[in-house]
Amino acid sequence: MSNYHIKNLEEYFQVYRESVNHPESFWEEIAEENFVWRKKWNNVLECDFSKPEFKWFEGAKLNITENCIDRHLFARGDKTAILFEPNDPSEAAQHITYKDLSKRVNAFANVLKSKGIVKGDRVCIYLPMIPALAIATLACARIGAIHSVVFAGFSSTALSTRINDSACKMIITSDGSYRGAKTIDLKGIVDEALETCPGVQSVLVVKRINSSIQMKEGRDEYLEDLLLNVSNECPAETMDAEDPLFILYTSGSTGMPKGMVHSTAGYMVYTAYTFKNAFQYKEDDVYWCTADIGWITGHSYIVYGPLANGATTVMFEGIPSYPDFGRFWQIVEKHKINQFYTAPTAIRALAKENLDFVDKYDLSSLKVLGSVGEPINEEAWHWYNNNVGKRKRPIIDSWWQTETGGIMICPIPYVTPTLPSYATLPMPGIQPALMDENGNELKGNQVEGKLCIKFPWPSIARTIWGNHQRYKETYFSSYENKYFTGDGALRDDVGYYRITGRVDDVIIVSGHNLGTAPIEDAINEHPAVAESAIVGFPHDVKGSALYGYVTLKEVGEHRNHENLSKEINQIITEHIGPIAKLDKVQFTNGLPKTRSGKIMRRILRKIACNEMDQLGDTSTLLNPACVKEIIDGAL
Ligand code: WTA
Repeated sequence: MSNYHIKNLEEYFQVYRESVNHPESFWEEIAEENFVWRKKWNNVLECDFSKPEFKWFEGAKLNITENCIDRHLFARGDKTAILFEPNDPSEAAQHITYKDLSKRVNAFANVLKSKGIVKGDRVCIYLPMIPALAIATLACARIGAIHSVVFAGFSSTALSTRINDSACKMIITSDGSYRGAKTIDLKGIVDEALETCPGVQSVLVVKRINSSIQMKEGRDEYLEDLLLNVSNECPAETMDAEDPLFILYTSGSTGMPKGMVHSTAGYMVYTAYTFKNAFQYKEDDVYWCTADIGWITGHSYIVYGPLANGATTVMFEGIPSYPDFGRFWQIVEKHKINQFYTAPTAIRALAKENLDFVDKYDLSSLKVLGSVGEPINEEAWHWYNNNVGKRKRPIIDSWWQTETGGIMICPIPYVTPTLPSYATLPMPGIQPALMDENGNELKGNQVEGKLCIKFPWPSIARTIWGNHQRYKETYFSSYENKYFTGDGALRDDVGYYRITGRVDDVIIVSGHNLGTAPIEDAINEHPAVAESAIVGFPHDVKGSALYGYVTLKEVGEHRNHENLSKEINQIITEHIGPIAKLDKVQFTNGLPKTRSGKIMRRILRKIACNEMDQLGDTSTLLNPACVKEIIDGAL
């Protein structure tokens, strides 16, 4: 159809203009011609920034799994929907066709029903990257249950916090997981988490590593056993356009993670549309996104976006370094991958290794390379371009967020000329605005400010689960009638956007968003710690790493600092997970504070980044003397 698939730059500008001038008819046409609906909408958009409330396709009825599975069965039934590549290259890959997927999703949905799960119930999914993870999300969607996938690298404390926040009735997990040469006892972590989750009535366990685990009588059951007793046909529940499809937690600037709620219809329309355009997806392409389904990238661009387009989507269970650093490229060659979507941190890690790991594989199937999750630095961009794309394949640097649901600013491959470290131009329907210090929009080009979006798009998160007030305060109170992203950006002389990084207390480590507050809360639980502050500093693989300043309760505490650092990292691992461990810990006698007692993280950040000449005036601090001491002790 006319504006669904953009083919050249002229068409992009034309489609973009139309999407801005007539957003409702623009999205209506896309929704109308590319999806199956049980009932059409009454209204394309209802928008009220003051509440804030956004409703897309209000009145429509649908089920997203009919769009992602059923409608493909006739023309694409035998086509591979999910191509599973296991952790160990000696284990065979699995080709799950659309027909197989349909049966497996339906059977899983019947198991959920047999355990009393009904429309609107929350189901937590804590699984490794195995087909059951994608199937579990779709099974929930089939019956209208709201899935909350928790990344399987999170600790038991982080897991129980998320289960309790959205009152999940069930958790789906596995006996364990493979990670390179190691196995991880996922069920053990779940058991620990459930000690503080009284609302969870049942635990479904998928067998993956066949370990001997504890099964609690009356609560825990193997999925395999339950599947024996159900049919593989399950009618899809009729959902309203605005019914929640899932909750996905993301870090914020207070200790409590934010359960972002995504709707059904708008999310489906936007992820499907952006998948097609941002990857220039064509029928029969084999598409691979290396993210984990525990993050939004996996939800939107492993599961829903690709399947809504009837694509073949690869799911990889392993890690880029196992059995060696050529694993990604070996998979590209093996499955003749056409679109490859990964994170800058993975590229930086691979760029440190011998080029033979890349050069020995045939990467000629690749058509599009993607990057997501954090700014891609120029060095990594060039390495990716030279060695993976062989200077012939466009790199799409895609900027977006858990909250936005889909890709927002991104070159369209073979259409938008790319530029290292620039996310370039907004997707159709996306209206970015850069704001100055006084809250005014910066017009024209060559400006830099805080990045907002000034018109709603279909996949904007609708609320924070159980806390609409926080949603309003976090995203809609800084600027009137605009969504504030928390990122800074510049617009260059041709109108290209470059994301400059977070402007709030979120630090992106290896592509994972980490709020400083929950980490500080964890550290402060150590009995010897009085106070702490976390900042980010540049790291050549992780992008940013964490630098912790820690004040101990007793001045002159003589305990071995090395041991204390280890204990602190242990607490962080228990509360959040190993991803939030500190790379550097500096013990100080005090932290710089304003007269109102607020820790001046800006100063600590400069010291951690070794930019001592940019500290600015520190004389107005409550305790200026501590700055010199911190500089002297800097690591
Ligand atoms: C950052 C991931 C620069 C940004 C899809 C954003 C990026 C946060 C890019 C969201 C990019 C993501 N260039 N920065 N291409 N992509 N970010 O919620 O700071 O895990 O706000 O969503 O990652 O991370 P999240």
